[in-house]
Amino acid sequence: MTTSGQDRTKNTKLLAWVDQMAALCKPKDIHWCDGSEEEYNRLCQEMVDAGTLIRLNEEKRPNSYLARSHPSDVARVEDRTYICTSTAEEAGPTNNWMAPDEMKAKLGDIFDGSMAGRTMYVIPFSMGPLGSPIAQIGVQVSDSPYVVVHQKIMTRMGQKVLDVMGEEGGFVPCVHSVGAPLAEGQADVPWPCAPNPADKYIVHFPIDREIWSYGSGYGGNALLGKKCLALRIASSMAREEGWLAEHMLILGLESPEGKKTYVSAAFPSACGKTNLAMVIPPKGFEGWKAWTVGDDIAWIKPQADGSLRAINPEAGYFGVAPGTSMHSNPNAMLSLRKNCIFTNVALTDDLDVWWEGIDGDAPAHAIDWQGNDWTPDSDKPAAHPNARFTAPASQCPSVDPAWDDPAGVPIEAFIFGGRLSKTFPLVFEARDWNHGVFLAATMGSEATAAAIGQAAIRRDPFAMLPFCGYNMGEYWKHWVDFGAKLPNPPKIFRVNWFRKDANGKFIWPGFGENMRVLKWIVDRVRNESTAVESPFGGMPTRNDITWEGLDFDAETYHNLMKVDKAEGLAEAEELTSHFDQFGDKLPAEMEAERKGLIERLNASPDVWELPR
Ligand code: OXD
Ligand code: MN
Repeated sequence: MTTSGQDRTKNTKLLAWVDQMAALCKPKDIHWCDGSEEEYNRLCQEMVDAGTLIRLNEEKRPNSYLARSHPSDVARVEDRTYICTSTAEEAGPTNNWMAPDEMKAKLGDIFDGSMAGRTMYVIPFSMGPLGSPIAQIGVQVSDSPYVVVHQKIMTRMGQKVLDVMGEEGGFVPCVHSVGAPLAEGQADVPWPCAPNPADKYIVHFPIDREIWSYGSGYGGNALLGKKCLALRIASSMAREEGWLAEHMLILGLESPEGKKTYVSAAFPSACGKTNLAMVIPPKGFEGWKAWTVGDDIAWIKPQADGSLRAINPEAGYFGVAPGTSMHSNPNAMLSLRKNCIFTNVALTDDLDVWWEGIDGDAPAHAIDWQGNDWTPDSDKPAAHPNARFTAPASQCPSVDPAWDDPAGVPIEAFIFGGRLSKTFPLVFEARDWNHGVFLAATMGSEATAAAIGQAAIRRDPFAMLPFCGYNMGEYWKHWVDFGAKLPNPPKIFRVNWFRKDANGKFIWPGFGENMRVLKWIVDRVRNESTAVESPFGGMPTRNDITWEGLDFDAETYHNLMKVDKAEGLAEAEELTSHFDQFGDKLPAEMEAERKGLIERLNASPDVWELPR
């Protein structure tokens, strides 16, 4: 099984690094991944034999598998995630930090012999279409075959990447071990990991552009191209090089006349980001098409003419399964019909998958995510709430014809949102770029009072809180400076699908209707609609929204869009403590925007309403 690296690449830097990692981790052998179907199938079969994967019903779910993780290894571990910049201030108040030398010494100890008894897989991958000027190459060494098969779905992976790298090409080194070395003769377990949370480390060195991950085999902890490279390391690169690496979906909206407008949008978790990325135009939007470029991450580069082009660095979806159904997200469900890996969902008696919120009745019997019998009377969920599907992007019915285009797609608007039951209207447009940065820097979702003490909103600026590879205050400044250089910066919008009425009911009828808001955004981008100035920003009158196919009366619309002065002022006040965390790293532009908001609110009636 061992393949010599020299047969596969002449890149001396890569060969030397792999040798160095092998000397440190001491695997029993090394496999250079070629990314072929044969390799994928062989590794899946080996994992079936080892009990890591279960092959699903070949008729119902062809070429698909279920994995069950160790119960301690079910999600990203943010409190074990480190940004090792030279100083703590460079990492900022929202990241864990350790001095690079201290961390390197620690990792040297931890990784010493970490892969004993296991194969070290060398996984060359490209984040972004191969050879795209926006793409980046990484090489991950990992002792997890589960990671290899995931990287085949989630990235462009294998020999073709080594070929693009050539003899001289650079790469981001990514070192990953599940942290479960095997002693001579020791039997393996289906999901090896380091079960004690304190033993896990997800470490980023932005200066060296290096990633080290130990102790977890799950998701973003282990698929190092995703959150680690494409967000944390890339955000730091992007700042140095003048581009944007964002936790954003990319969506193309095509009018019946065939005019396409691409938007990029960021939401904290539990706001329906994947649903928006795969939105289907509702009744009343005949002739419109919505195209998915990406569901999670966008890399955006300015062009010589001042326009922006974006790629989705990923090649697959690693989505949350519970709640996904033909009702909530038909395009996601249709992407899952074959060639997928499911992790921590339930297994039905006919070897298909099931999770809470999927279509139809619950099965009378299933095996839950921990391998135990489950019935609808069980008091625990059958699927873990963070159970995932891993699906190739190419299988999505709405995948954009240009999703794999090395040139990327033009971005004409940014959208930011959160889950907020009061204060914030359905949609409003930033007054200008810096106001838009302020709207994104202050976004967040409501949390229960218990979770956050007094504050009403758990802030998740740009949805980047766990993903920004440097000081968040500097990141806002990067956005301010970035926009200042654009001759015609994209418009920026805030949306909120979750405002509630006096009876605690959602006012907006649901994700399926979001296209109505998107259409107004497209009209604004094309200068085909006006916006009324409110204290928060520009708003559509009722006549500016297309209502065909939806009964939504004027009274309800005006309620959904109103601005309550006292609530707005309370929000502006609450922002003080949010901003204070960043000390002198807070860009002056952000405080100026906060003051501007207060001034506009003070000049407005107690309840501001759109003209009728
Ligand atoms: C994800 C996340 O898994 O943002 O995409 O946590
Ligand atoms: Mn995400």
